[in-house]
Amino acid sequence: MKTIHLIGIGAGNPEHLTLEAVRVLNTVDVFFLLEKDGVGKDALLDVRRSILEKHATAKPWRVVTSSTPARDREAANYEAAVKDWRDKRSEGIHAMIANEMADGEIGAFLVWGDPNLYDGMIDSLLQIQAEDPNLGMDFTVIPGITCIQALTAAHRIPLNRIGESITITTGRLLEDMDPAEVTNAVVMLDAKRTYRGFAETGHTIYWGAYLGTSNQILARGPVGDVSAQIDQALDNGRQRNGWIMDTYILRSNAEPGDKKGH
Ligand SMILES: C[S@@+](CC[C@H](N)C(=O)[O-])C[C@H]1O[C@@H](n2cnc3c(N)ncnc32)[C@H](O)[C@@H]1O
Repeated sequence: MKTIHLIGIGAGNPEHLTLEAVRVLNTVDVFFLLEKDGVGKDALLDVRRSILEKHATAKPWRVVTSSTPARDREAANYEAAVKDWRDKRSEGIHAMIANEMADGEIGAFLVWGDPNLYDGMIDSLLQIQAEDPNLGMDFTVIPGITCIQALTAAHRIPLNRIGESITITTGRLLEDMDPAEVTNAVVMLDAKRTYRGFAETGHTIYWGAYLGTSNQILARGPVGDVSAQIDQALDNGRQRNGWIMDTYILRSNAEPGDKKGH
């Protein structure tokens, strides 16, 4: 049997690693690093390498790197494009497990944040297991600190307010939402600065970029007051570092109790 651990490594802060993750890191024979195309890939790989050097100290291990296919970001059908990209990536992952691991060995992928949040690794491994039972592979998931937790901790806010649900969504989906329906929403993967559409709606934004890293930037306040500041921070960050990742929470100002007329 080949065992794979999907280890959540946090969203940029190497100290956001659980004790379980550190224990498991020290059992691994081979770490698989997936190199993504595009700017920022080096910084994201550097975080992974520094985690290994600092925490995987108990026994020798090796690293196998593989480049992941580029995704067609202009495709008209978003879901089909993502599925196609994930299928191609799964083929590469399957090949690594088949060719670069001996039976009885332990392998691991260091997953940004937590494997449960906007990440395809769990699906890929399930697909590989289903398509190739003879591979003899099983896997575990080790949770990590997500960018959402890094954001709420940095702003010192709870994720939920009393009696209210939370939406976790993407910039692409937020674009089509009625602002009146957005009471408390975490927004990720927003390349289009969709928060700008909330400048006149009375929403408050809690925004963060490079969360957990030494470059972390935060902004908060009524969207109309801080959206220019966020625009500027996004432009500057991209110019300075070549890449930027940001996440934010949008909240309607009305408290849930007020909405029910209490
Ligand atoms: C593909 S998702 C992966 C999320 C990851 N699995 C997690 O648990 O945080 C990538 C998105 O997460 C958000 N993100 C990840 N790391 C971040 C960070 N350090 N600072 C701000 N946003 C981050 C951004 O919205 C980015 O577009």
